[in-house]
Amino acid sequence: MAQQIKLFTREELKCRNTRDDAILIIHNGVYDVTKFLDEHPGGEEVLLDNAGKEATEPFEDVSHSSDARALMQKYKIGELVEADRTQTKGPYAPQWSNDQAQESGNMRAWMVPIVLAVAATILYRYLFA
Ligand code: HEM
Repeated sequence: MAQQIKLFTREELKCRNTRDDAILIIHNGVYDVTKFLDEHPGGEEVLLDNAGKEATEPFEDVSHSSDARALMQKYKIGELVEADRTQTKGPYAPQWSNDQAQESGNMRAWMVPIVLAVAATILYRYLFA
């Protein structure tokens, strides 16, 4: 039988920010890092600073290695409920603003051949009509 994923709300996680009970929210996943505080190569301070809340941005700002990402799975205890999730594409897509910039870039890429085609049609009709 498939294992049930435990779901949490941001509200109930808010107070879990102490040395005795520390969770992090990273890419909509919930991680219990209480036992990891002592072992974190970046120190316990940064983990406690972000405990009980959204830590995706600080986590990604550090550019953690794939080893770190594999390691964090060990501490995963569940995920956020649907209503509290932030929308990202896949687990490692933190660049919301970049996504948007890229989208408008794609639009422009489409526009160029369309405008050229229309211009060519008008020119053709004008010259050969
Ligand atoms: C479950 C969550 C986390 C895990 C498993 C984890 C794991 C690791 C690991 C394995 C490293 C060593 C370097 C590497 O392999 O990338 C590291 C470094 C570091 N981490 Fe984390 N980390 C977590 C969350 C965070 C968060 C939320 C922050 C917040 C700022 C943070 C800040 C740092 C810093 C500052 C370093 C040190 C980089 C250096 O000195 O070169 N980590 N972490």
